[in-house]
Amino acid sequence: MDVLGIDIGGTGIKGAPVDVIAGKLTQERVKYPTPQPAKPDAVAAVLRRLVTGFGWSGPVGITFPGVVCNGEIRTAHNLDPEWVGVDGPDLFSKATGLHTVVVLNDADAAGCAEMKFGAGVGEGGVVVMLTFGTGIGSALFVKGVLAPNTEFGHIEIRGKDAEVRASERAKTLHDLSWGKWAGRVDEYLAHLEALVCPDLFIIGGGISRQSDKFVPLLTGRLHARVVPAALHNDAGIVGAALAAAPS
Ligand code: BGC
Repeated sequence: MDVLGIDIGGTGIKGAPVDVIAGKLTQERVKYPTPQPAKPDAVAAVLRRLVTGFGWSGPVGITFPGVVCNGEIRTAHNLDPEWVGVDGPDLFSKATGLHTVVVLNDADAAGCAEMKFGAGVGEGGVVVMLTFGTGIGSALFVKGVLAPNTEFGHIEIRGKDAEVRASERAKTLHDLSWGKWAGRVDEYLAHLEALVCPDLFIIGGGISRQSDKFVPLLTGRLHARVVPAALHNDAGIVGAALAAAPS
């Protein structure tokens, strides 16, 4: 069965119908730039465009780059403060006319997709999925069960928010070499390991496509295994669709 998955990011909003049994996109994904400023109504209008473009009338899962508790948006570090307190499913349902609308954190969605179809398949211990993009997203799994909204991108390192130092955006913004950026990621992973002692880190986000450029540069001081995500940047779309699939 197909469910529409939409991934709202700080720079782009992308979506595609997903076969939720196979974990695969069934049509070419469509991407629009995130409106600036990324206020709720402007983002909702882009979602309407995506839904109309696919001629969609079925269930839709939508990721959001912030804390989402029972559909309520609680934080939006990389979008706009107007999101705080917004009822996500209500806003998107009104904007698109769709009835089954599920909204969840973007990294949680990507993590669920990786656990079901990607690098986390069969992993029964403690797994931390991290997405490196505009920010750093995190998803924590214990024996395959998600503990939602962990927000490990905001732990403090050297007096700064971790994502300010080690996101993909930080790499671009400060023109960091792979080696320099890998050093920051390494330090970040070591902090996280000290906090939650995972068996496995899955490294996701767009930059995971270039994992050969930085995973070998991690120093090996970690006990946990470190692997790139298998679904790369589609993990959010697939995870969004999974969240809205009928059980
Ligand atoms: C947000 C997280 C999100 C991550 C990746 C962070 O700034 O607080 O909720 O998962 O960015 O988008």
